[in-house]
Amino acid sequence: MTSLVVHVSDLHVGKKESPEIAEPLARLIDRESPELIVASGDLTHRGQREQQERAAVFLRELGRPVLAVPGNHDIPHTVPARFTQSFSAFAAVWGTTTPSFASERLAVVGLNSVRPWRHQSGGLAPGRVAHLEGALEHAAPGALRIAVLHHQLANPPWRTRKAPLARRDAVVDRFAAAGVELVLGGHVHQASATRRGEFQADEGAGGAMVLLTAPGLGRPRPHRTGEARGLHAIDADERTLVVRTYLWRDGRWAATAERRFPRGGGEL
Ligand SMILES: [Fe+2]
Ligand SMILES: [Fe+2]
Repeated sequence: MTSLVVHVSDLHVGKKESPEIAEPLARLIDRESPELIVASGDLTHRGQREQQERAAVFLRELGRPVLAVPGNHDIPHTVPARFTQSFSAFAAVWGTTTPSFASERLAVVGLNSVRPWRHQSGGLAPGRVAHLEGALEHAAPGALRIAVLHHQLANPPWRTRKAPLARRDAVVDRFAAAGVELVLGGHVHQASATRRGEFQADEGAGGAMVLLTAPGLGRPRPHRTGEARGLHAIDADERTLVVRTYLWRDGRWAATAERRFPRGGGEL
């Protein structure tokens, strides 16, 4: 089983780290052999440069290109640095808060949904969506068009009070118009995989968009022992998008679900 993308999120390096996941993760990445690893934010717990560097070493040692966007934990916790140097450490290590990756099979655009003046919630200013629209204009024909941002656009309210991205419906409409087929996010530390039409009618509104939220790769809060840990592996052919979900169980990465979605607004 190989994949195009492995999607991880919420490492929270610097808080209750678990080095035992690293070696099994390296073996999983070798098996899945993804073209790209996507990390959808909260790479660190406090946004410190040293934490960011360790997160980068951890992900880059997996031996694949890495596309990372910031989460609300990737900025300084205290003022004034929270406002004056919000993304300094992230940008110093990762180069940009709005990365992109393009190949024959992939067109991936990362967006920064972090708002330093808010504690948890995320949003995308219209100009940030314009960045995605511009980047996707150059996508290769047939490439899987992916948007990456930390804050979730959709998830059932299983066990979180974290609201979806601000102005979610307007953002989803613009993503659909730009031909986005897949949205990757995190933030809630729980997995979900849904097609847009499952929560918002999508007839005649562009393609069928799939929205994935990754479980946390880290589990930063010791008291939340029930919090899921896992990742997604994503593959696609011309007609079908396949999402395999792996969970960390009993000291290993176990494949626990495989979900299939039609590409291009069709049916399975
Ligand atoms: Fe997180
Ligand atoms: Fe978060």
